[in-house]
Amino acid sequence: MEVAQEWPEPIVRVQSLADAEAIPKRYIKPPSERPNLNPGTAMAAGETECLPVVDLGGLRGGAAERQATMRAVSDACREWGFFQAVNHGVSPALTAAVREAWRQFFHLPMAEKQAYANSPATFEGYGSRLGVKKGAILDWGDYFFLQLLPQSIKNYDKWPTLPASLRETTNAYGEELVKLCGVIKEVLSLTLGMDEGFLHRGFGEPGACLRVNYYPRCLQPELTLGLSPHSDPGGMTILLTDEHVKGLQVRKGDDWITVQPIPDALIVNIGDQIQVLTNEIYKSVEHRVMVNAATERLSLAFFYNPDDDLPIEPAAELVTPTSPPVYKTMTFKEYKMCMRMVGPCGKSHVDLLKAALHD
Ligand code: OGA
Ligand code: NI
Repeated sequence: MEVAQEWPEPIVRVQSLADAEAIPKRYIKPPSERPNLNPGTAMAAGETECLPVVDLGGLRGGAAERQATMRAVSDACREWGFFQAVNHGVSPALTAAVREAWRQFFHLPMAEKQAYANSPATFEGYGSRLGVKKGAILDWGDYFFLQLLPQSIKNYDKWPTLPASLRETTNAYGEELVKLCGVIKEVLSLTLGMDEGFLHRGFGEPGACLRVNYYPRCLQPELTLGLSPHSDPGGMTILLTDEHVKGLQVRKGDDWITVQPIPDALIVNIGDQIQVLTNEIYKSVEHRVMVNAATERLSLAFFYNPDDDLPIEPAAELVTPTSPPVYKTMTFKEYKMCMRMVGPCGKSHVDLLKAALHD
């Protein structure tokens, strides 16, 4: 598949539109996709259901506590594809520092940020759209995207030099999250009834990247979304949300459940590659982001992925006569290409992989 080298239209920074009384047409979603017209959102968010919260400190406890914690992770990943992790071992001082560094970056003068303007060739750098479809309706958010792993593709030329603390804190934060993802892979492997190295082998040499999302305020938030419904394409995602401002919604059946931020929590969610590797036992679940008229929102999404070139398919151990393989084999590199052409689009990418099995 051809990778586009340039954006199909001139890029407009959403941040420059934050004071627009009437938002430009290209951010206005069709009525059925607007945030307050979907079933479930009329209900006060979080009143009836909320995302499971798992205290990962239990993994460092005695045998019974460890078992119960592993079960809680496994149940959440089967039922919700998502959980909020507390006591995850990443220091609150570090999460505060990395948030602050990136907030400062987005508050730099525009000319400073434009030096990092990205292109669809790699997406690395400062961006304002996902997908390269001409005429697409866009989301209300800017972002900064960086590769962290493997080391061989980490390119500091693409990293901001300001604020001065950004590189060091981002690296320190990334290292902590790589460790946390290693632990979660082991828990997910054991609770599938496999040995703890099962997903490590399935992933091969891991890749990791960071997308810092900056959602400016929006004076007509009922007409648009910060990020359209999508499932994350990679292995798993660790999301550090804004400590004050809500916005993330997770699909549960026909409802969108608004996630209530918990100070210092990290949100863990399953990506499409783990859904494929586990033949759908763990699910990647759709989520989206709402914006609001009062204030900006910042989130850091850390994507932890399998080796780009390793074929990903339902693991032989999980395929039985009663649960045949549901997905076609594909490398993550090929999968990413499809995703990058189209941009966020529900679970359509992983569904295509399912359909392709029968081609
Ligand atoms: C993402 C994502 C949610 C958020 O970056 O993939 O789902 O709250 N972000 O910004
Ligand atoms: Ni996401």
